[in-house]
Amino acid sequence: MPCTASTSSAAASRPRTRTRRARLAGAAVAACVALASVTLASAQAPYEPPGDQVMIGFWYDSADPYYDTPSIINQKLGNNVPVFQLSQQIPLPPFNYTTGAGGAAPESLIERSATDAAVFLTIYPTSFEAITDDDFTELGKQILDYQDNLNRTVFLRYAPEMQGSWMTYGFDPVGFLQSWTSMYTIVKAVAPKTIMVWAPNTPQGYPYGQQYTQYSALSAANQALLDTNGNGELDAGDDAFSPYYPGDDLVDWIGLSIYYKGVPSDVQNTLQPDGYCASIITGTDPSDNSVITNWYTNYCANKPEKACMFAEAGAAYHTNHTDGVSQAALQQAWLKDCVTSQTMLDRFPRIKLYMQFEYEKEEDANNGDKDFRDYRILNVTDVRDEFIADLASLSDRFSWAQSRAPPTSISSAGAPAATNSAGSSVIQAITATTRPRPTTFPSLFGYTSDGTQRAEWAELGVMVAAGVVGAWTVMKTL
Ligand SMILES: *[C@@H]1O[C@H](CO)[C@@H](O)[C@H](O)[C@H]1NC(C)=O
Ligand SMILES: *[C@@H]1O[C@H](CO)[C@@H](O)[C@H](O)[C@H]1NC(C)=O
Ligand SMILES: *[C@@H]1O[C@H](CO)[C@@H](O)[C@H](O)[C@H]1NC(C)=O
Ligand SMILES: *[C@@H]1O[C@H](CO)[C@@H](O)[C@H](O)[C@H]1NC(C)=O
Repeated sequence: MPCTASTSSAAASRPRTRTRRARLAGAAVAACVALASVTLASAQAPYEPPGDQVMIGFWYDSADPYYDTPSIINQKLGNNVPVFQLSQQIPLPPFNYTTGAGGAAPESLIERSATDAAVFLTIYPTSFEAITDDDFTELGKQILDYQDNLNRTVFLRYAPEMQGSWMTYGFDPVGFLQSWTSMYTIVKAVAPKTIMVWAPNTPQGYPYGQQYTQYSALSAANQALLDTNGNGELDAGDDAFSPYYPGDDLVDWIGLSIYYKGVPSDVQNTLQPDGYCASIITGTDPSDNSVITNWYTNYCANKPEKACMFAEAGAAYHTNHTDGVSQAALQQAWLKDCVTSQTMLDRFPRIKLYMQFEYEKEEDANNGDKDFRDYRILNVTDVRDEFIADLASLSDRFSWAQSRAPPTSISSAGAPAATNSAGSSVIQAITATTRPRPTTFPSLFGYTSDGTQRAEWAELGVMVAAGVVGAWTVMKTL
């Protein structure tokens, strides 16, 4: 091919800088550019569903006391979810046989679902400085194992919500860009088919109160990157995303964390305003109509070769504040406005994946209180039934996973290691992780509704029963 697809983005920006001589190069170049633009317009990101179809994903809580699994979710939904999210840390803490903490995410639960769903792996750095090249190589090998031995598509969401200091690695664009580049280079070299997801936090409320002492404490290089409008300070006029964007060459999909936690109060159960999600992603904060960075235009519409996603999303029902609307009303409002919405699907065709955060967890409210929040949509029968009905009414718009036989050795629940059909041992995930919370470090289990720390006792028991050899194999390959 005289002009390949890989020249398309260069071709798109070339006219502004072309010299007279280049312009004189003639009809061949013009034809080539025209062809390249056609290629650009029809380009698809890897694993993007065809046409106007989109995917639903689930990030579920497999830890005690929830024990959610892909199989249970598929069963409740009556459809095979095409993407399941898991998370783990880097550097990967070794599995602790006493607490059940650490180790790789429990990918085996996806195998057991007996579908060809993709693995969506979220990786939380403890700190960028702590990560060595070997850590990235090991991550690449773990992913390659899913791809080659288990025939899985793998999304990798590295260091998400990087603008916020609630992440141990957050609010450090210089460190983020360096680390992302190393991660991308090393992981893609080991596992080239990995789909790289760059996913910042919602622009609502940016810079999240960090504009004062935290900004002052940053290096001059970080300050310069963050002050995108060059007015000498960090403020709501600065771009919430661009300081952290590694570049089109280093990203496959673009995500966003987007939630409804209550307007005007994040500890009350109120219905969200109509058009809540559309407003957030097109540059207006629906809580006060202030201008925020436009995610959809800048990162989806203007980057047609990238696919976009809600990388984690949901509506929080405030379990301990039952005076407002019901959980069913609150979450149906979210789903009808943000997910199973003909308007959303038609107006934002580049959003190709909606990832539901299927968790119940304690969070810090804006008033400083602890607030217990239930994001789960399959746990309330009314919400679930209506969600299923709404999906059915838009059935040609949603793409589902296909059923297929699981690998031969995943027969006993909780088995830590598995053997693929070729007879070789594959890396299997052992234990559950959830979003890391500083208060629970080093355990990744967080707190349950009764306030006690979670532990994977059940899974741990099975692991011990599975024996030293299997466990040793897993630890060694990790
Ligand atoms: C596992 O966790 C327990 C409890 O926190 C701790 O005492 C122990 O040292 C850990 N084991 C390893 C090998 O790190
Ligand atoms: C891998 O999975 C894809 C998607 O389900 C399927 O089309 C393909 O046949 C599988 N390949 C092998 C070698 O099983
Ligand atoms: C909701 O989750 C709880 C555990 O948190 C479980 O006991 C209950 O059966 C679930 N309800 C439904 C309808 O799935
Ligand atoms: C919040 O709700 C959870 C679950 O219903 C309950 O266990 C917990 O005690 C409540 N906390 C407060 C402070 O009321």
